[in-house]
Amino acid sequence: MNLTIRHAEPDDYDRVISSVDAWWGGRHMAGMLPRLFFTYFRPWTYVAVHDEAFVGFLAGFQSQTDPSQVYCHFIGVDPAWRSRGVGEALYQRLFVAAASRGCDEVLAVTAPTNRGSIAFHTRMGFILLPGPDSGSEIPFTPAYDGPGEDRVRFRKSLRDSLMRSPVIC
Ligand SMILES: CC(C)(COP(=O)(O)OP(=O)(O)OC[C@H]1O[C@@H](n2cnc3c(N)ncnc32)[C@H](O)[C@@H]1OP(=O)(O)O)[C@@H](O)C(=O)NCCC(=O)NCCS
Repeated sequence: MNLTIRHAEPDDYDRVISSVDAWWGGRHMAGMLPRLFFTYFRPWTYVAVHDEAFVGFLAGFQSQTDPSQVYCHFIGVDPAWRSRGVGEALYQRLFVAAASRGCDEVLAVTAPTNRGSIAFHTRMGFILLPGPDSGSEIPFTPAYDGPGEDRVRFRKSLRDSLMRSPVIC
């Protein structure tokens, strides 16, 4: 597969924002993805391109509170391109960039209903952080992002993963 992962250009935002709701199965996600990721956080925001086709993106940033942490805000892959390693290639690029800047861990959240995202993040080596004990099969934090907005919280240690298997990009 002739896949290129590159830093986002500011103009990529217009293509991403026109696809994002459809890529999330019709959920309104565009409002949570402002242009700033494609302007002020370009070192941590990537797009996946196959030939001329735009097939995925990852929008992240380095924590200003704790610079050892990198946060992935959104990762999305065109439904026609899923299960071909595009999401993994995007995350591997982030992991390599984070490790090369001395960061120790990558964090992300997802909705408890997004079982595909939970399976994907687990496969990428993230652990699910505990929430208040609710007896739920999947640990989540109620109202993490406001009323009704429960979230599963993920953490991946780059030190552990780099010791087990070097990431190649
Ligand atoms: C989650 C998402 C980014 C995965 O992208 P992808 O390119 O299909 O993932 P990959 O092909 O790189 O998969 C990597 C691994 O994760 C697993 N995986 C990916 N999606 C999965 C799913 N829905 N269910 C179970 N496992 C999954 C793959 O099987 C693969 O494991 P393997 O190496 O053992 O085969 C993509 O499905 C997507 O865009 N979903 C909608 C947006 C979303 O929910 N984003 C996450 C929250 S921000």
